Amino acid sequence: MSLFSMTALGAWLQPGAAPPEPVAPQNLPKVPPSPNFWMPNNASEFSHSYDVLFDVLLWISLISLIGIAVAMAYFCVKYKATSRAANEEAESQVDHSNTLEVTWSIIPLFIVIGLFVVGFKQFVDLRSSPRAAYEVHATGQRWKWGFEYPEGLQHPELHVPVGRDVRIMIQSVDVLHSLFIPEFRVKMDAVPGRYTELWFHATETGTYPVYCAEYCGTSHSDMLTKIVVHTEAEFKAWVDEEIRRIESMPLPELGELTFNQAGCATCHSLDGSPKIGPSLKGAFGRTEQLQTGTSIQVDENYLRESILDPQAKIVAGFPPAMPTYRGQLSDRRISGLVEYIKTLK
Ligand code: CUA
Repeated sequence: MSLFSMTALGAWLQPGAAPPEPVAPQNLPKVPPSPNFWMPNNASEFSHSYDVLFDVLLWISLISLIGIAVAMAYFCVKYKATSRAANEEAESQVDHSNTLEVTWSIIPLFIVIGLFVVGFKQFVDLRSSPRAAYEVHATGQRWKWGFEYPEGLQHPELHVPVGRDVRIMIQSVDVLHSLFIPEFRVKMDAVPGRYTELWFHATETGTYPVYCAEYCGTSHSDMLTKIVVHTEAEFKAWVDEEIRRIESMPLPELGELTFNQAGCATCHSLDGSPKIGPSLKGAFGRTEQLQTGTSIQVDENYLRESILDPQAKIVAGFPPAMPTYRGQLSDRRISGLVEYIKTLK
């Protein structure tokens, strides 16, 4: 049962709780058509060389499989004993062939050494990020990705310039996640309590999907976002525009943006139906029964406390499942959330 306690699944299996609704995918990109037979597009410097190595391994395996199977069938027929008596007679020729044995040892030896050298070099490349890379922080959280840019911008999408080394520092605030960008052939776990990293050098502008590739609970498959690869000038303009847009937003709008970016919708509905947490529709001013048996009228201070210290006053009938947002949301964003919740009549 330990898996249940690690996920929110256990929470809604309790009697009286409604199952969480799937999160609507927010403008997710369609997987772009790929000219490759069964691989996604090649959009980073890693993609092509990995595919070549994969194809070489695949074809060697396939040709060996067919060759061995055909030879086996041929020998079965050719050396089939003509009768039971013939089968019980000892074989007169019991010698071996040095030439044959050396050949079938040496040729594969050179093939696997070659594969090892190429594969090891690629592995070392993949794991040693260049010092001068553009650095973005990624945070995994049930069930959304968040990215923080060196310019001071937080955003739910990954935007990067084309033709530059980009390093992603990955962390998780709850359970294991895994940042996966198939078009770049990169994937790295997000581990609570430590940083992991991946890097890439995008070669094609465009929009590609980003997945979570580590089962992390009920809405694991909704933990999606996108990576947008811009030209250098477009990228700079995008960062400036996003910063300007967020700074100048009125509070309730900033709250709505934060509500969507911070993953609040995973647990709090806006239509009055309970999910993992209470619905926020008409929450402001409502009198809530608490688990402790007392009751409280929802005001600005209760909302703020519940964002910063969610376990302090839990509404009766709901699990203590919410993570704290202390240190993750700016004061202005928390005020924005409070103002936004007030508008949810
Ligand atoms: Cu996060 Cu799966």
